[in-house]
Amino acid sequence: MSIVTKRRSVRKFDLTKKIPDSILEELIMAGEEAPRARRQDSREYVIINKQEIINELAKIYKCTMIIEECNTMIGVIGKNPDDLPCPSFQPIDLACATENIMVEAVNKGIGSVMLGTYPDKERVEKANNILGINDGRFVFTFICLGYPIDEDCFYEMRQKPIINYNRG
Ligand SMILES: Cc1cc2nc3c(=O)[nH]c(=O)nc-3n(C[C@H](O)[C@H](O)[C@H](O)COP(=O)(O)O)c2cc1C
Repeated sequence: MSIVTKRRSVRKFDLTKKIPDSILEELIMAGEEAPRARRQDSREYVIINKQEIINELAKIYKCTMIIEECNTMIGVIGKNPDDLPCPSFQPIDLACATENIMVEAVNKGIGSVMLGTYPDKERVEKANNILGINDGRFVFTFICLGYPIDEDCFYEMRQKPIINYNRG
C-alpha cells in the first residue's frame, strides 16, 4: 500500500539536524492540499524553531514529556470561526491538514507526532497565549517534527478496520 501505512508517531529526533525552512514550507503546502468544507479559508500555520518557545509549549504537554527533545514544530492554526461560512466543519478541515503534513513528512524521511490540543480549552488558551494569538484565531494542534534517530521508525503496522457493507 502507499506511504500512509508507514506513518507512525515518532518521538525521538536527531537534534543535531535541522529541517530546512523550504522543507517545512513544503509540508505546510501539503497540509493546505487537504480537503476543507466549502473550500473555506479556515487554516493557517506557524513554524516554531526557537527552543525557548518550544520549552514554554512543553509545559502544556508535561504529561507527554516529549517535545522538550524536539527543535521544530508546526502549529496548525484555525482562523476566526466567526469569519467562516462553515465554522462547525472547521475542526475537520484542520485535522485533515494535520494528517497531510504528517504523511508528507514520511515522504521526506521526517518523523512527526501531533500533540492533542483542540478541543481542550485550557491547552488551547495556554498555547494561544504563548504564541500571542488573541484575535479569534486558535491553536488546533502542534506537530513535532524531526529527522528520526531510529531509521526503522516508519514501520508498517497494518490496522484491521471494521468494514460493513451497505449498512452501519
Ligand atoms: C487527537 C490526537 C492527539 C494526540 N496527542 C498526542 C500527545 O499529546 N502526545 C503524544 O505523544 N502523542 C499524541 N498523539 C499520537 C497518538 O498517541 C498516536 O497517533 C497513536 O498512539 C497511534 O500511534 P501511531 O501514530 O504510531 O500510529 C495524538 C494523536 C491524536 C490523533
